[in-house]
Amino acid sequence: MKKIAWGNDHSAIEMKKELIPYLEAKGYEVINLGTDTRDSVDYPVYGEKVARAVRNHEADVGIAVCGTGLGISLACNKVKGIRACVCSEPYTAKYSRLHNNCNVLCFGARVIGPELAKMIVDTFLETEFEGGRHARRVDMITEIEEKEG
Ligand code: RB5
Repeated sequence: MKKIAWGNDHSAIEMKKELIPYLEAKGYEVINLGTDTRDSVDYPVYGEKVARAVRNHEADVGIAVCGTGLGISLACNKVKGIRACVCSEPYTAKYSRLHNNCNVLCFGARVIGPELAKMIVDTFLETEFEGGRHARRVDMITEIEEKEG
């Protein structure tokens, strides 16, 4: 069963209260790296925490949630080896795994509700990378990262 690094800012407290117990009830181990209060915090801090947990193999995948999903995904993607994507529906979540081998799922707690979030999360966690020609393309993304040093 996958181990999940979870991160969130203040905008996603309600989402977190629904989603972490939902994931745990399914048997996933969830490492809570997010804030637990509504006090305003800075989403890059939590994006970096999730990304580093995945990068350091403390978790298999990450889930990072802010108001839109955008800021926290941008922060995650600054960590080498991280492919974070914002998904607001299950189709993108499915292909983010199948074709892009994304390792961090992001979404906006102010954009979607918890029931849609559960469908997106399920899809992301249950879909495996297809490999083949998609592996070559994902490797090309890594090569871009390596050119940056
Ligand atoms: C916080 O107000 C908000 O800016 C943040 O949650 C996120 O949406 C940023 O991208």
